[in-house]
Amino acid sequence: MLDESRHFFGKTKVKQLLDLMAHYKLNKFHWHLTDSHGWRLQIKKYPKLTTVGGIGNFTDSTASAQYYTQANIREIVAYAKKRFIDVIPEIDMPGHATAANKAYPRFSGGSVVGYPNFTFDPSKEETYKYLSTIIKETNSLFPAKMIHLGGDEVFLGIQAWLKNPDIVNLMAHKGYKTPTDLEHYFFRRMGDTVIKLGSKVLCWDEAVETDLPANKTVVFWWRQNKPQSLKLALDKNYSVVLCPRLPMYFDFVQDSTHVSGRKWDSTTVVGYQLQNKYNTVQDVYNFPDKFLEGRELKSKNIIGIQANLWTETVDTEKRLDYLIFPRMAALAEAAWSTAANKNDITFNNKLKAEIEWYKRAGIYYYNPSKPAEHPEVIDFKPKKQIKH
Ligand code: ACM
Repeated sequence: MLDESRHFFGKTKVKQLLDLMAHYKLNKFHWHLTDSHGWRLQIKKYPKLTTVGGIGNFTDSTASAQYYTQANIREIVAYAKKRFIDVIPEIDMPGHATAANKAYPRFSGGSVVGYPNFTFDPSKEETYKYLSTIIKETNSLFPAKMIHLGGDEVFLGIQAWLKNPDIVNLMAHKGYKTPTDLEHYFFRRMGDTVIKLGSKVLCWDEAVETDLPANKTVVFWWRQNKPQSLKLALDKNYSVVLCPRLPMYFDFVQDSTHVSGRKWDSTTVVGYQLQNKYNTVQDVYNFPDKFLEGRELKSKNIIGIQANLWTETVDTEKRLDYLIFPRMAALAEAAWSTAANKNDITFNNKLKAEIEWYKRAGIYYYNPSKPAEHPEVIDFKPKKQIKH
């Protein structure tokens, strides 16, 4: 998964990444195209989503609008298809909606301190029509027939709902006690919209609380500190993609000496074996077998693993490459090997050969056996706190 809301990299870089994904037999490109710092997907019926919502990025809120036109999207989807890669768009809702709400404020669910206009307004019928139109246009661009609706971290902005009398009335009318109940209602409605279009609905693991139909839903488990959410997803018979922050978030540092990027305060969690506070190449290689318990590992409902690159701290292509390579090689080995076939020594030897190949290809990689070879690429702008 690549986040192009926080920083936009564009068509040429995405095509290069698709080439490298094909090299590694990675077959799904999850594209995080909308979030608080920029809306990057052209929607014909609502042009301001990109002309206004596409302005700015995580380091510069005034940067001129950057986004993909629908023609760009078709071109990239066709390019990916030739490489046997399905492209899965993510339109995040009902949270992470600040950029969309900048373009069309009438659909905003209101603000709380630190999270202005973070959600969509769940009380207006118009909001559902608006988002359905966006989903329809999106669905027509992505033949893989999978739409990721996000659903993560809505709690960051949800208290704003209690300040809006229309939203409070809707809660009373439906008999909902908490705004989270209303969040589930919202998500079920939008999930149904995707399903009616003949596509699968994909979501972050918060949405396991929503009763979406198991045979049409894929849950992305990202909260390694909430193994109970993975258990619930499996109990409810959802298909699951494993992408826990540790070790699958590539915006975390990969070496104890690195200063740029995220680390986790490694609190112990029952049911999940953390190896480090950050994500080494070796940890990625050893995922999921060294991290999860047998019951989950054996589940037929786990349909794959995924790495996520959030880009709050990624403002150049050089830094993007540094964070991805060679962890992408480890991801592919982890995805396509059984635990019994894994061997750290063999992998490290293969990695040495692979690094020679990166050198010839001009990729700015991190070398775990010779860290001094390429200095860390440091993001240079002051960053706001990153929650997810
Ligand atoms: C996430 O990291 N908010 C899915």
